[in-house]
Amino acid sequence: MGHRVVTGVQQPRPIQLILPLVLLVILLAAVWAESQDYYKLLGVSREAMTREIRQAFKKLALTMHPDKTPGDPSAHEKFLQVNRAYEVLKDEDLRKKYDKYGEKGLDEQQQGGRYESWNYYRYDFGIYDDDDEIITLDSGDFDSAVNSGEIWFINFYFPRCSHCHQLAPTWREFAKEMDGVIRIGAVNCGDNNHLCRRKGINSYPSLFIYRAEQKPEKFNGERSKDSLVHFSMQFITTTVTQLWQGNVFNEIESAFSLGLGLLITFCFDTGDCLEPRTRQKVAGMLDGLVKVGWMNCTSEEQLCGSFQVTSGATIFFPPGSSLDQQGSVLWLNTLDSKEIYNQVINHLPDLQLLTSDNFQSKLAHHRWLVSFTFRDRSPATIEYKKLQAFLRNDHIQVSRVDCIADSELCKSLYIDKPCVAVFKGLGINDFEIHHGKDVLYNIVGFARDSVHAHVTTLRPDNFPSDRKEPWLVDFFAPWCPPCRALLPELRKASIQLSGRMKFGTLDCTIHHNLCSMYNIQAYPTTVLFNGSSVHEYEGQHSADGILEFIQDLVHPSVVVLDPSSFTERVKDGLEGSIWLVDFYAPWCGPCQVLIPEWRRMARLLSGQILVGSVDCQRFQSFCQSQNVRAYPEIRLYPGKSRKPDHYIVAGRRI
Ligand SMILES: *[C@@H]1O[C@H](CO)[C@@H](O)[C@H](O)[C@H]1NC(C)=O
Ligand SMILES: *[C@@H]1O[C@H](CO)[C@@H](O)[C@H](O)[C@H]1NC(C)=O
Repeated sequence: MGHRVVTGVQQPRPIQLILPLVLLVILLAAVWAESQDYYKLLGVSREAMTREIRQAFKKLALTMHPDKTPGDPSAHEKFLQVNRAYEVLKDEDLRKKYDKYGEKGLDEQQQGGRYESWNYYRYDFGIYDDDDEIITLDSGDFDSAVNSGEIWFINFYFPRCSHCHQLAPTWREFAKEMDGVIRIGAVNCGDNNHLCRRKGINSYPSLFIYRAEQKPEKFNGERSKDSLVHFSMQFITTTVTQLWQGNVFNEIESAFSLGLGLLITFCFDTGDCLEPRTRQKVAGMLDGLVKVGWMNCTSEEQLCGSFQVTSGATIFFPPGSSLDQQGSVLWLNTLDSKEIYNQVINHLPDLQLLTSDNFQSKLAHHRWLVSFTFRDRSPATIEYKKLQAFLRNDHIQVSRVDCIADSELCKSLYIDKPCVAVFKGLGINDFEIHHGKDVLYNIVGFARDSVHAHVTTLRPDNFPSDRKEPWLVDFFAPWCPPCRALLPELRKASIQLSGRMKFGTLDCTIHHNLCSMYNIQAYPTTVLFNGSSVHEYEGQHSADGILEFIQDLVHPSVVVLDPSSFTERVKDGLEGSIWLVDFYAPWCGPCQVLIPEWRRMARLLSGQILVGSVDCQRFQSFCQSQNVRAYPEIRLYPGKSRKPDHYIVAGRRI
């Protein structure tokens, strides 16, 4: 084989820049030995959420760890495998690659090559993973949670920090006390390094209050339950009004005219009314749905009597209830804020019901969040009543469709289980179904994003088969975490590309036929249909990645080569044209990492060097005939007096 030197090339500088990158990538490429299914290793289903994966792994770590099985010579190897499975499945990007290509899709950065001591897994691994009142947030849901409109108090901790462990029992008690009043969260900065750095966390534990559209507030006080409660209560700014003869009827009228309920606690010297802090908590919990007031029955004895109250009591008047008609009024026999909240929420009128008769006309003019319900309604759906308060300022109305009574309507939308969907005010066809967690903050975030975005839930009747305009279609399964992570990014991209193309999602668990027609094998598979051409998106799950992909389709920077164009343009091409060619396989992890870099580089070099790529899975025998040995293999074909086979492989000269 002939030899040429890099310095013989006309434009050496950009190449020197990329060679180290390319070398690194090649070092990472490797062959994987066959081994066990990661999901089986951890004993979780393919649909498992990250939390389940963490819990399953922790259980295994506590029993299988080599520290605990000193007699077993294979313990180390076995645990390494489990650890690797965990490291891959907890990472959304790696998990998708694994789902799609198996182990050969992963690069050899040796995820899971090192593990921690048994003590670490026992004491330091996700301090709050098992606490119901504490919501462990990660980079995927942090922003939508703290921007939902609820108040969040978040504990940023680091697994190995001893002060974090000292705080844990107090934080748990505090969370129980404030459950329902504010959201108590935790972020494991060991697992979410970037997130914590982005939030400026530089010591552990760091405790911050987050409210939508306001600066986070740091807690610097003594780390006791009382001072934590005291600190957080100052953010509950809902007013509790003292009621008396002069204002009570106005208050009732104004609450009802806003569609709100009214809760009054009647206080006598003998007690049995809600104490000030409880009133404040209840007011915070029911903010936007119910006004809270209190009455001093020692000074307002007659007024209290007119409510038929003769000793301490708390009464709830639902919106529109008449004071004389005692039937709809609810007497509460508890002083516990959480119980009061539950009883009141249950007693509030249900969401407005849409039926097949009024569905079309209602949806034509307004933005709606619609809850589709079936026979058994989950406890979460009772809380949906709060959505009205959260979404009022976004001009999104909230309603319900009873899919048992209106089964034809739900069937026509391919809705066969409980879900919520946003209808964007453009009629019955333009809606998007929510696939995130069934919790309030997640639904609120979804609704706000979705009404501004242009992503449509597809089904056979609106699937773009005629393709008069470009469509980006995301084939996905709702249970797949990388799919869920991609959905918000699609929404962002759809806003940027609005008017230039359309965006749709197709749920392959419902529309099997369409998905198999398009030969979808892994989720998510994102495809751009443009006329007769079809391009699959292979990059990162980010809006920027998608935008770059589209930009590159419109103004391609990398020439896609096949055997004949390779011969024509690269081998026998014009004298003086220098080519850089990436021989890759779609399944190879490092190749995927290279794709966006390759495009970026091609744009940087445009006019100086031609940049191409060859898909060696499609053109396997061709790549073999070219002696391509590993993926990706980068070759430089210098222009002058080119003889066949004069090329340089990523710094090695051949
Ligand atoms: C209620 O009114 C009485 C009589 O005016 C007064 O002595 C008492 O302090 C008031 N109670 C409260 C909690 O304000
Ligand atoms: C779609 O195809 C048309 C015509 O071939 C082309 O001009 C346009 O740039 C393409 N759009 C995208 C987004 O690929």
